[in-house]
Amino acid sequence: MFLELDGHGPHYAQLARALKSAVLDGRLTTGARLPPTRELAHELELSRTTVLAAYEQLRAEGFIEGHTGSGSYVAALQTQPPLLSAQPMIDMPSRYAQRARLTRTPGIATKHRGLRYELQYGHSQINPALNGIWGRELARAAMYTPPQIADVQGLPALRKQICDYLACRRGVRISPEQILVVAGTQQAVTLTARVLLDEGDAVVLEEPHYFSMHQALVAHGSRICAVRTDRDGLICAELPQVSPHLVCVTPSHQFPTGAVLSLPRRLKLLRYAEKHQCWILEDDYDGEFRYDAHPLAALRSLDQGDRVIYVGTFSKVLFGTLRLAYMALPVALVEDFFNAKYLSDIASPGIEQAALAHFMEDGGFERHLRLARKELQVRREALIEGLHQYAGERVEIVGSPAGMHVVVWLRGYDHSRAEALIELARERGLGLYSMTPHYLNPPARPGLLLGYCGLSVTALREAMQLFGQCLDDMDAERA
Ligand SMILES: Cc1ncc(COP(=O)(O)O)c(C=O)c1O
Repeated sequence: MFLELDGHGPHYAQLARALKSAVLDGRLTTGARLPPTRELAHELELSRTTVLAAYEQLRAEGFIEGHTGSGSYVAALQTQPPLLSAQPMIDMPSRYAQRARLTRTPGIATKHRGLRYELQYGHSQINPALNGIWGRELARAAMYTPPQIADVQGLPALRKQICDYLACRRGVRISPEQILVVAGTQQAVTLTARVLLDEGDAVVLEEPHYFSMHQALVAHGSRICAVRTDRDGLICAELPQVSPHLVCVTPSHQFPTGAVLSLPRRLKLLRYAEKHQCWILEDDYDGEFRYDAHPLAALRSLDQGDRVIYVGTFSKVLFGTLRLAYMALPVALVEDFFNAKYLSDIASPGIEQAALAHFMEDGGFERHLRLARKELQVRREALIEGLHQYAGERVEIVGSPAGMHVVVWLRGYDHSRAEALIELARERGLGLYSMTPHYLNPPARPGLLLGYCGLSVTALREAMQLFGQCLDDMDAERA
């Protein structure tokens, strides 16, 4: 098969893109068998690990099915993506469109459909009563919200609530004039790119990192500089000597490893930003959910140079479909971000903002948070107990007691065996997800990212028992 690698980024990502293009332009059709990894590695003069990682990424994105032992096949794409429609694609796409095509994916989070135990990261509904409460808030807000488009920076009532919440929960003191309400963290990232970055400007991302943030920055034309993380978060000593324009971090709960950025490193990072005159984007996606102590103060709370752009989201604490998040902006950036928001979508929806402002003012949000935190903690404990009981020494659990997911590294596994384990679990009704797609360069050993939001305590225990059985069977097969 003729595959041309484009020379950008790690080899496995280049290969995944080349194969994706082959699927999308019809050279590889539904059901077609992909070449065995060893054969393709030989043909392209790549290592087999590289080919395995590319196949794993395509599998996570839903492009292929099957596993290494029995072959990988092009999947029947559930929804006809635009690229496969009868309309030919425009032949002179913008540079942005071309880059976006290359990063495009039907979702790293593509679910294995119909599984009994789904450990996919990304569920955000923990409190079933919330739907009813939210419905009432929306109905109420619809009665009194003026029909005109809301303020570009967000409803004043909501911005005030956000400021109170940030001061009380995240240690951030900021004026409502510095708050911008946006359509999710994702819009915060695209606005940041528009305001701060020209094509080719360097951006530091943690390795590993949040996939969608990486995609948005690559599509914008940013030059990504991946800096490794360890158990204390971003390794600041490895920040580039040549000044980047922006450093993106998840200091309260590194995504996905779960590390907390240590205080010395927080201070180092702030000094680095001062020295290099660059900006920091703090993605505080689930900082509310800590189970060992009080929530950690945000990096922004230590920022005396006003260089941190803080982003908080309601996607995790309420639900993802709300598409509401907020930015706490440095004074120097306020006007440019307001302009960019206006040019992007004028303003966020008024009724949802009014409902949320009332929900926060009324104390409902705090009640929901308390309940959700308690419930998540119990689920986390059930998952970890299950891992200890059924997987034992065969996995290493990492990360801090926070958030909605746990990362485990598989001991004695290589990537191809890990892939076989994921496939075996899937056949038995258990959805496991690899860590590899969250890396630019595949990690030395394979790991799993286990989301525990979507399953009850009982289901989590059963899921871990099943996981243990899969590990047993993998061991038996090897013996
Ligand atoms: C690291 C990280 N940041 C942010 C988000 C939330 O993104 P959004 O606010 O666009 O829903 C997520 C959700 O999965 C995430 O994992």
